[in-house]
Formats: sequence, structure tokens, C-alpha cells
Amino acid sequence: MATSAFHSHSSVRAARPFPQTAQLDLLSSAWSAPHLQREEPGTFALSFSPALVRDLLQTYSRPGDTVLDCFLGSGTVYAEGIWMSRRVVGMDCNPDMVEDVRERIGDAGGELHCADARRLADLLGPDSVDLVVTQPPYGHTHKFSKDLSADLSLLSSRDFLSAIEVVAAELFTVLKPDGYCAILIGDIKDRGRTMPLGFQFVHRFLSRGFSVVNLYDSRTPSSHLPVPLHAGEYLMIFQKKQKAPKRTR
Ligand SMILES: C[S@@+](CC[C@H](N)C(=O)[O-])C[C@H]1O[C@@H](n2cnc3c(N)ncnc32)[C@H](O)[C@@H]1O
Repeated sequence: MATSAFHSHSSVRAARPFPQTAQLDLLSSAWSAPHLQREEPGTFALSFSPALVRDLLQTYSRPGDTVLDCFLGSGTVYAEGIWMSRRVVGMDCNPDMVEDVRERIGDAGGELHCADARRLADLLGPDSVDLVVTQPPYGHTHKFSKDLSADLSLLSSRDFLSAIEVVAAELFTVLKPDGYCAILIGDIKDRGRTMPLGFQFVHRFLSRGFSVVNLYDSRTPSSHLPVPLHAGEYLMIFQKKQKAPKRTR
């Protein structure tokens, strides 16, 4: 996407008051809490806010663009993307999730895969995606399966972070130059200690070549996001910046 699209970012976001949603403290609440819903009822624990997804699609992509969600879940990005005329690729390691989305939303205008996000590039090829909008498991806080070998939510914190670094590298490969990557993640507690996943993600995405475009958290002014983020939750916008052309004499 052209750089100008990013510069129009703040103007796209007209002042919109936050809905009266109670802020949750992620570190003291179970992530699977049924009240973990924002302005619209979610169908799934830890699901994206549809309004937030629409805002990201509007800001960072255009109709016809290829949008990837490699942690599909209940398919919020997939559904909103199709309804906004994007070509959406949805992927989840859990075949039940993929089939559920296929049944509810269908695959006209989209592509669904049961696959491991650590092997994205084999499936999609390099420089093939305009925008990534995705929400990985928040570590092991909510386990998405009992025993699926590819399920990152079953990993120890250390292995989870190594896996995220692999995912970051794959995302960098499949994104087109200048493509954007929006990640929603929340800090968690591990054996009584805070795991600042937000910071750890930024570190790993930077080390895999991404540039930071914007970072949002629960203190972000209400004019910047359509819904508030929970305390300890981060929305990070990265970009695969095109390399500067080499100087010639
Ligand atoms: C936080 S949920 C995504 C929720 C989604 N944003 C929504 O709106 O419903 C994370 C998803 O990642 C999936 N997942 C876990 N490990 C994965 C992997 N290695 N590759 C692809 N999907 C994975 C889980 O099955 C789960 O559906």
C-alpha cells in the first residue's frame, strides 16, 4: 500500500466515542471469561472486535487486496474481509474451526486452510499478501485444543515465543513490500509472573525485519480506535518496508 494511505490514517479515524464497555484487567481475569466481549457479542473466547477489524481493513487495505488471517478462530477477519470485498485467506491449525467458518461464512471470496502458521510461506508463496490482520493465542492462557500438535496455545512460554518468531519470519516473507501487518495480543501471567507478550512480540517482529508503524494500548485516545483495548492488550501495526534503492554513482 502506498505510504500516503498511512498518512491519511489519523484523518480516517474521525472522533468516535468509545462504547461503555468495562475495561478488563487481563492479568487478573481468566482469558476465557464469557464476559470478554466488546461492543458486539463474540462467538468465541478471545475473538476480534468486528468494528476494530473493519477499521483496520479500511485503513490499511483496499477492495481487491489479499488479506491474511493465519489464526482464523471464529473467522471475524475472514467474514469482515469478504463483506468488504477483500480476497481473504484464513488459516487455522484446528480443522474444527476451519470447517465451522466454512459452514457459517462459506468460501466465496475467500480461501480457507487448515494449516500451521509456522509454514505459511510454503502455502502462499513470497510477496503474495497485501495485509495481515491476526490475533494469535495469548500464550497458554486459553488453550484452543486438547492435543493438536500445531496448537501454539499448548506450548510453554519459551517455546511459544520461539514459535512466534518463526511466524513473524513467515509473515515477512508472504507480505508484499510495503504491506502492513496488524497483530492483537495481550500480556499474560505465567506462574504468578507477568509475561509482557506485547513487548516480546515487538522485539521478535523487529528482529525479523518489520518496522513499527503504530502501537496502541488501553491508554490510546478514543479518537484513534473504534473500541477500547483491554488493559494489558496491544494492537501493533508493522510494515514490511521496501528496501531503500541502492545508491549508484
Ligand atoms: C485468539 S484465537 C483467534 C480468534 C480470532 N481472531 C477470532 O476473531 O475469532 C487463536 C487461534 O489460533 C489458532 N492456532 C493456534 N496455533 C496455531 C498455529 N500454529 N497455526 C494456525 N492457527 C493456530 C487456534 O486454533 C485459535 O483458533
